[in-house]
Amino acid sequence: MQNSGIIQRPNAGSVTLHWFGAALVFLALLAGMFAVYYSSGCCAADRRIAYLLHAYAGLSVLGLVVLRLMFRASYSWPPTAKSGKAGFGDMVAKVIHWALYGLMILIPLTGWTMASGMGCCWYVPGLPNVNMLSLGIHSTTPADVGTAYQVHVTLAWMIIGLISLHVAAALFHHVFLQNDVLQRMLPGRIPPKAAQNDGHGKATPAPMNKENA
Ligand code: HEM
Ligand code: HEM
Repeated sequence: MQNSGIIQRPNAGSVTLHWFGAALVFLALLAGMFAVYYSSGCCAADRRIAYLLHAYAGLSVLGLVVLRLMFRASYSWPPTAKSGKAGFGDMVAKVIHWALYGLMILIPLTGWTMASGMGCCWYVPGLPNVNMLSLGIHSTTPADVGTAYQVHVTLAWMIIGLISLHVAAALFHHVFLQNDVLQRMLPGRIPPKAAQNDGHGKATPAPMNKENA
């Protein structure tokens, strides 16, 4: 993919949803881990509070990702100011981004399946049965719930791995390649150095536009 070297920020709505989504995923992960590994026991108050925080944060991720994909369909993600063809790294980044979107849908859905199939401390007030989605997901037997739990946990660990790679890549672009990949996701002016570095140590002509003027 060739690009012009002009700095283009992604759509402001998509960027805002990205950071809200990231915060909610972190909250869901922390509350889920606390509920399972650090709380006092099955129906203890601290476990119940952590679990409800976990479930509502996770369900918000599901709603938010739908909104985000609608933005993504309406406004394409602009290329960075790097010059040259898209390389292997760009392809890996794309695969990771779409895998993150997929996991942000599948993890809450498997969580919802568990919550629908179990009473007791997994009950989520206000949450209808997952069957109402008419996606063919049923959660009627303990075996369904057990399968959903295994899938939920496996996918949760996958998202932890992918987020680690994703954040490491963003920091690598910022600290070592010193390009605009992270800068343009943050508010404020993009410094000329980030605007002009093509990631391979060569200067790219970066015409001024509204964003970096
Ligand atoms: C982005 C969304 C979500 C993430 C990243 C996530 C992640 C996690 C993690 C890391 C755990 C602990 C797994 C372990 O045993 O090691 C967990 C447990 C669990 N999650 Fe989620 N989850 C999400 C959404 C949901 C939703 C929406 C629900 C239900 C409506 C849910 C229901 C559960 C249940 C029932 C457990 C077991 C809790 C327990 O044993 O106390 N999750 N989840
Ligand atoms: C501190 C945490 C994070 C940082 C520093 C960060 C940074 C970034 C940056 C710089 C981009 C733009 C990449 C580009 O323009 O090519 C991006 C895009 C993206 N991020 Fe993050 N991110 C973080 C957390 C997360 C989390 C937790 C998720 C989801 C679980 C996530 C999902 C995505 C996705 C899906 C895109 C691609 C946007 C698209 O192509 O539609 N990010 N992130």
